[in-house]
Amino acid sequence: MTTDFRAYLRSLPVFAGELPRFDPDAAPDKPDDLFREWLVEAVEAGVREPHAMTLSTTASDGAPAARVLIVKNVDEHGWQFAAHDTSPKGRDLTAHRAAALTFYWPARARQVRVRGPVVPEPPERSAADFLARPPGSRAEASIGRQSQVLHDPADLDRAIKLARDRLDDQPSLVVPEWTLHTLRPAEVEFWQGDAGRRHTRLRYTRPNSTWQRDILWP
Ligand SMILES: Cc1cc2nc3c(=O)[nH]c(=O)nc-3n(C[C@H](O)[C@H](O)[C@H](O)COP(=O)(O)O)c2cc1C
Repeated sequence: MTTDFRAYLRSLPVFAGELPRFDPDAAPDKPDDLFREWLVEAVEAGVREPHAMTLSTTASDGAPAARVLIVKNVDEHGWQFAAHDTSPKGRDLTAHRAAALTFYWPARARQVRVRGPVVPEPPERSAADFLARPPGSRAEASIGRQSQVLHDPADLDRAIKLARDRLDDQPSLVVPEWTLHTLRPAEVEFWQGDAGRRHTRLRYTRPNSTWQRDILWP
């Protein structure tokens, strides 16, 4: 069975179909500009949830953890996402204010990797992010027990009902533990896959106030 599965995996195609060319010399000076270009191109290529990314964090004991999250905004200040402070990812970020983000857009054979320190936004920005969520997401986020063991599904139904009733009574209620985070990029890599394995990699780093660009060996 193990052998069969190994063969099965080996038979799966990678970088199939027509892929775009990427000319790093023509890339913008700033990585956030290139990121937005690539994300729009991923949308146009039909990638589902192109704004979903893997957020990798480090716990206080040094153990790594990763999960998929939706990116909220990308501008010259960084990549933004939100989390409840009491969730495992929220606790990791309190203990260790740095993270890595990974985006993968299969239809374009493109990956973007971002690393850097993570800074919590002030309460008013976190509150605005919370209030911009649909009611169901706000209710769920206000429960604040993410990733705890659920002993009985009825407990979840009860908690959701209570949270919805509370939000109906107080529509402007904000959960103080909801935090909008900005990952300030120290390093951003754009990876363009190639069927012939001549992948193109462009890395932006910021040794001083301006971005430096380097091509990396694949
Ligand atoms: C496409 C996708 C999008 C997701 N978006 C979010 C999100 O925006 N916020 C969130 O808390 N969890 C999101 N999740 C669930 C997380 O991956 C994760 O299960 C959850 O946040 C608990 O993570 P933690 O235990 O590390 O805190 C998403 C999962 C997927 C597959």
